[in-house]
Amino acid sequence: MRVLSGIQPTGNLHLGNYLGAIRNWVKMQDEMDSTSQCFFFLADMHSITVHEGREQRLANVREMAAALVACGIDPDRSVLFNQARVPAHAELCWLLNGTARIGWLNRMTQFKDKAGKNRESASVGLFAYPVLQAADVLLYQATHVPVGEDQKQHLELTRDIAIKFNTDFEREVFTLPDPIIPKETARIMSLRDGSAKMSKSDPSDQSRINLTDDNDAIAQKVRKAKTDPEPLPSEAKGLEGRPEALNLIGIYAAMAGTNADAVCAQFAGQGFGAFKPALADLLVGALAPIRDRYVALKDDHSALDAILEKGAAKASAAAEPTLRAAYDAMGLMR
Ligand code: TYM
Repeated sequence: MRVLSGIQPTGNLHLGNYLGAIRNWVKMQDEMDSTSQCFFFLADMHSITVHEGREQRLANVREMAAALVACGIDPDRSVLFNQARVPAHAELCWLLNGTARIGWLNRMTQFKDKAGKNRESASVGLFAYPVLQAADVLLYQATHVPVGEDQKQHLELTRDIAIKFNTDFEREVFTLPDPIIPKETARIMSLRDGSAKMSKSDPSDQSRINLTDDNDAIAQKVRKAKTDPEPLPSEAKGLEGRPEALNLIGIYAAMAGTNADAVCAQFAGQGFGAFKPALADLLVGALAPIRDRYVALKDDHSALDAILEKGAAKASAAAEPTLRAAYDAMGLMR
């Protein structure tokens, strides 16, 4: 079993990242046996699709590394690195550009969302983004890729690229990866709009809970979260058509390690005035220790750089055989 996943080091880690992906990374790392390996990385090469100044980008990478360690990624057990330090990602991406089809990329919903109406002025990097993501996964022969729902289409594309490459060059160079998407927390929604996902790019900070928010900010965001005037139903099926309520109940269930039916049974007939303080307490209790570990680590640049450097050396060694096999299959001398 080879587990691999990445996160863009742009902005803060938020509750959607945590419940949709990072919590699963930590779980898979902790359940790993001696025949498995976990690779987790900061997708800094992907992050160039959003303009950022030099200092900010350097800070973002270190901060996200500190956040992942604070969440429980153990650099002694998992390979933790930043993508830019492992040039094999960019190299394989270029090779896969020969296999990926423009039509496939045109269908990517994330590109359509991010490019918006003015596609002509979107960067080539934004369009080719999923090819680099395919390279990230295929380089390590990853079998399991823990991600949130929004990455499902990119993983399907990765499989299509792998199948076409293996077929075209008549060699099984790449393993087909499976996405691991949590059922209940695949898509955590904005606190301000139950139809939009919680996202780092939402201009309103009130829409998300950042893992760096202090206890007061968490409680205030939960208190102000959009809801409806109805009391809570006794079963989860009563949440149909109430996206904001469904989202908050889902977050509560995920944080409490239970399910939406059990949460509804607990709060049946009560209003949000009773539910929200309980949710805020639960979030504060779970997130405060992560925040404390993050704060203790984030300014220790030499420790963070050492972690990333060591991780990159291990990642480069693990990537090398596949990269060599891909060049060789294509008849490229290296
Ligand atoms: P990114 O940085 O947008 O998000 C990191 C992870 O968090 C998940 N996620 C969510 N899950 C549930 N609810 C939400 N509201 C929510 N928001 C984000 C994402 O699904 C993701 O798992 N393209 C990727 C990074 C990447 C990658 C890869 C992932 C680059 N190469 C290779 C896996 C394998 C991205 O931008 O994730």
